Amino acid sequence: MIGIFDSGLGGLSALKEVRRLLPSEDIIYFGDTGRVPYGTRSRDTIIKYSLQDMNFLASKGVDAVLVACGTASSNALATLREKYPNIPIIGVIDAGVRAAAKATKNKIIGIAGTPSTIGSGAFEKGLHAVNPDFKTVSAACPLFVPLVENGFVSADDEITRLAAKTHLAPIIEAHADTLILGCTHYPIIAPTIAKVIPDATLINVGAAAAEELRAVMDNGISTLRLGRVQYFVSDEPQGFERIASIFLGEEITDKVTRIDIERY
Ligand code: DGL
Repeated sequence: MIGIFDSGLGGLSALKEVRRLLPSEDIIYFGDTGRVPYGTRSRDTIIKYSLQDMNFLASKGVDAVLVACGTASSNALATLREKYPNIPIIGVIDAGVRAAAKATKNKIIGIAGTPSTIGSGAFEKGLHAVNPDFKTVSAACPLFVPLVENGFVSADDEITRLAAKTHLAPIIEAHADTLILGCTHYPIIAPTIAKVIPDATLINVGAAAAEELRAVMDNGISTLRLGRVQYFVSDEPQGFERIASIFLGEEITDKVTRIDIERY
């Protein structure tokens, strides 16, 4: 069984790809909807929340975990691995770096992420370790997560288009040919982002990490399951169910359970 967590809806962009690549695996998804956003919080708080999310998934007996959150991956991955040395834990940073390094032609790579992820410099460090000649241009995009969590996800939502144009201006001006969507919420508004930066290849870091997870599962811990997905959230499920059903293209209403994450 695979565990996936995020602060809210964002990790669904990874879950979608995990289901495509590993259709017979059972999945437990946790979205910390009661405490979203993570990306504007301190590193200490992000580590504390991520540990609780991991504790919850571990209590369910997962074989591997995908940290489907750029903010948690860039701040808490080492702590999670230290506490759970026997559970393979995959983050989104390395996979995103690899995918971007492969995609770029002009070596100008834009990085969009939460203020915390951009502040950590994790993607920039990873890219420069691959190739010191890469030029990176970063943009913190604090408005994207609230827009997604509140359902402004249609390509026709003018407010989302304006936010994208404003947040991504430095990356557009630098003529980046590749844009790392360094927060897993962002692929949910990828059609809008593509409108304002049409020539760039968009990197979905959750999907890239799902490929890595497949390699881990293929390495022997995978057993034949039924492909069941259970969703857990830390606030009332309604808003999550509605937007998740749109994004996943299927009704998930009877599969979402509310838990008290502070107990973990
Ligand atoms: N989806 C998350 C990320 O990838 C977190 C967004 C947030 O809670 O601020 O960074």
